Amino acid sequence: MADRGLKQTLAAFGAGEPHTTTLLAAAALVDALATHPGAAVLDVGTGTGILAALARRLGASRAVGIERDAGLIGTGRARHPDVEFVHGDALGDLPEGPFAIVVANLTDPPLRHLVPHLVARLEGEIIVSGVRLWQGSALRGALERSGAIVMKVAAANGWCAYRARAR
Ligand SMILES: C[S@@+](CC[C@H](N)C(=O)[O-])C[C@H]1O[C@@H](n2cnc3c(N)ncnc32)[C@H](O)[C@@H]1O
Repeated sequence: MADRGLKQTLAAFGAGEPHTTTLLAAAALVDALATHPGAAVLDVGTGTGILAALARRLGASRAVGIERDAGLIGTGRARHPDVEFVHGDALGDLPEGPFAIVVANLTDPPLRHLVPHLVARLEGEIIVSGVRLWQGSALRGALERSGAIVMKVAAANGWCAYRARAR
């Protein structure tokens, strides 16, 4: 899916103009689901569920989004009946898998603190987005110390995202 098509698809999910970090995560999700067709996807910090909804649109067999803001979960449930929403804190309430793809578009903190927990249950690929370029090397370090192998880094407008796989 080209960038423009991706933007339009995300906007159609009700989020308006998507943020750069969402776009970076979405582009990586397109690639990851092409590598793992029909994968189950966990979306951490799902908000109203746009990345999870995109995963379903791209053929994910299951998409589970965890979010700590109850209001966003309510909006997400109304918009995306094909996404499973979990209301909770990802630092303590991570949903049971298995998930072949984990995507997390979050600020740091808490992103770096979450990485070891996410990588520990990873069966395929992890996509992490939501950090500024200057925070990228620390995020990469967290991924590598957790045992993930970084495959790709993408950057736009001063933000960056990493795609990594389980060892
Ligand atoms: C940058 S927004 C991303 C929303 C959406 N995934 C997207 O890509 O547009 C990050 C979301 O993560 C949620 N969040 C932050 N820390 C969290 C945590 N520890 N557990 C669950 N959700 C969290 C925030 O409430 C917010 O909705």
